Amino acid sequence: MDAIFEAIQKTAKRIKTAIDIKDIGYSQQENSSGETQLQLDIKCDMIIEEEFSKISSIHTIASEEKEKEMLLHKDGKYFIAYDPLDGSSLVDVNLSVGSIFGIYENSFGAKNMVASCYVVFGPRVEMVFAHNKVKMYLLQNDEFEFVKEVRLNEKGKLNAPGGTQQNWKPYHKEMVDSLFAEGYRLRYSGGMVPDLHQILLKGGGLFSYPATSDKPDGKLRKLFEVFPFAFVYKKAGGEAIDGKNDLMELEHNHIHDTSPCFFGSKYEIDKVKEVYGRN
Ligand code: F6P
Repeated sequence: MDAIFEAIQKTAKRIKTAIDIKDIGYSQQENSSGETQLQLDIKCDMIIEEEFSKISSIHTIASEEKEKEMLLHKDGKYFIAYDPLDGSSLVDVNLSVGSIFGIYENSFGAKNMVASCYVVFGPRVEMVFAHNKVKMYLLQNDEFEFVKEVRLNEKGKLNAPGGTQQNWKPYHKEMVDSLFAEGYRLRYSGGMVPDLHQILLKGGGLFSYPATSDKPDGKLRKLFEVFPFAFVYKKAGGEAIDGKNDLMELEHNHIHDTSPCFFGSKYEIDKVKEVYGRN
């Protein structure tokens, strides 16, 4: 695991350099989820593939930017699913973006997850690594320095509702509005990594990406986005559900499967369960 942790740090430094280059380049290709791939997405994917290829304990990788999984070392035991640059379309408006890594043992699947990690590229580069505990690091003079252990409070103040409101179910809108009516403040950038990072560091709140009429299975990908953040939130004392069930209990059929998802502290997730439980 130490070798993987170090490899992620190397990728983060290289990705930071790639983001800083002026031309992020629009390519003609689409990724497996039908989103336009930037040259930058492809470059970040290659950086991670290159660094992970050097680690013999990594058996297979799956990337949000690749159609299929890729075998690296047949005697390795770790399976890593990653989103090289989540929210990459926000780079050209200079908002924060991030890389997400889900680390699984023996095969992909929520129940096999043993660690997870994300890196936020914002005004500063920060990394959160969840294994036994959830620890945050800051890039300082080309080294990641430990900052603190992260824990969620029982209740927060932020509300980050994803998806197109027009396509929300009426009861989802009711649930979101009821939090605003209690004084919750809107915080939504459109980047999953900074949005969830903000809620985590400010002590709590709710991030939701529900099932919508146009996306009945949600938008966010189980292996690359949903499971890694569910692992982080649960290890930090929060909760992560699909509306009714614990996200870490879900199965997947395909590496690019999606799921509705809700991440937060206990108070807000209880509220989601109450509303979704009767609908
Ligand atoms: O996965 C892509 C992504 O950009 C996430 O980072 C983000 O949370 C979500 O999509 C935003 O989607 P929407 O604009 O539909 O709320």
